[in-house]
Amino acid sequence: MAKTLLTVLLILFTIFSISTLTTAKKNHGFSRILSPAKLGLKREKLSHLHFYFHDIVSGKNATAVRVAEAPMTKTSFTGFGAVVMIDDPLTVKPQLSSKPVGRAQGIYASASQTDLGLLMVLNFAFTEGKYNGSTLSVLGRNTVFSDVREMPIVGGSGLFRFARGYAHAHTHTIDFKTDQDQDPHLPSHSVHRFLYLNPHHRQKNHGFSRSLSPAKLGLKREKLSHLHFYFHDIVCGKNATAVRVAEARMTKTSLTGFGAVVMIDDPLTVKPQLSSKPVGSAQGIYASASQTDVGLLMALNFAFTEGKYNGSTLSVLGRNTVLSDVREMPIVGGSGLFRFARGYAHAHTHR
Ligand SMILES: *[C@@H]1O[C@H](CO)[C@@H](O)[C@H](O)[C@H]1NC(C)=O
Ligand SMILES: *[C@@H]1O[C@H](CO)[C@@H](O)[C@H](O)[C@H]1NC(C)=O
Ligand SMILES: *[C@@H]1O[C@H](CO)[C@@H](O)[C@H](O)[C@H]1NC(C)=O
Ligand SMILES: *[C@@H]1O[C@H](CO)[C@@H](O)[C@H](O)[C@H]1NC(C)=O
Repeated sequence: MAKTLLTVLLILFTIFSISTLTTAKKNHGFSRILSPAKLGLKREKLSHLHFYFHDIVSGKNATAVRVAEAPMTKTSFTGFGAVVMIDDPLTVKPQLSSKPVGRAQGIYASASQTDLGLLMVLNFAFTEGKYNGSTLSVLGRNTVFSDVREMPIVGGSGLFRFARGYAHAHTHTIDFKTDQDQDPHLPSHSVHRFLYLNPHHRQKNHGFSRSLSPAKLGLKREKLSHLHFYFHDIVCGKNATAVRVAEARMTKTSLTGFGAVVMIDDPLTVKPQLSSKPVGSAQGIYASASQTDVGLLMALNFAFTEGKYNGSTLSVLGRNTVLSDVREMPIVGGSGLFRFARGYAHAHTHR
């Protein structure tokens, strides 16, 4: 009988989440309520960042590689179904040689059959000055041929904890140098200017939206919750909970496995033992989105099954530098008891 290798990556998750819905005071073993002042939370501040984003889709130093597509992608004029993993440099000036401020790491994918509308799921990982190590999470739609595109900032880590806002992208230059293994209608190097702004609230009625009073939705003052559980990532063996679903041609030769996309349904438990009380599962994808270190894009939901949290979820979109001792990932939303949640999770590898 063949020996099966069972690899369990056990991760301890500590989540700080602010939710506007009241959650009961009871301690359920893995959750408790904290005072916002304890985390040093003050009044919200407005920040404004400005940088250039370099997307290089061909050549030796490509920073964007295709990892998946559908059978009909090649005949679709929008390339519908194409999924691209990026590790794109961000710079202060339009020149690629200007001062780097960080990387845009994650996925863009053609999600429209009629126009060029990209799904963008990525993290801005900053490396410059006081922002070094902080991230912003982007989940939005990018209509590449529009002059200015707006994409929501749905969370952040480090100095950007609890961030929300939006980014404006404007294409600065497109270089259509053609290359043999490249789609002729794709630019080989495009530079986009990004602006990031915090929210402002528009009162205007836009036909499908209107202002509501928070009380109408049963919203009360924001409350801080603290959850604590173990996350089991089993990547091989009969009972694997993580399976690879896509990769690029260059993934096998990449030091970091750049381009590998893994789907997970990982058990969450109260104690480090897999046999301890389950509290839910982590469902979604992680993907290698860095060419230089192990930096995973995490796009997943924690689906809780325990006690009053049964049926509630928390959404995570962040960057996981697996070899760091403690990684911080933004909580960008939630459902059920976690409606309107935002916050951050601390992950520490247990063994
Ligand atoms: C690739 O990057 C290396 C090192 O940064 C540089 O010397 C080289 O000119 C680049 N090649 C291309 C085709 O841009
Ligand atoms: C950012 O932080 C990392 C790790 O702490 C360090 O190695 C790197 O030199 C810093 N980069 C800058 C530009 O300060
Ligand atoms: C897989 O799960 C089943 C049922 O939970 C268990 O009996 C079996 O020992 C597990 N197999 C491995 C290789 O862990
Ligand atoms: C959670 O809810 C589902 C559906 O309502 C139910 O079937 C299940 O037994 C519940 N689980 C726990 C642990 O309460």
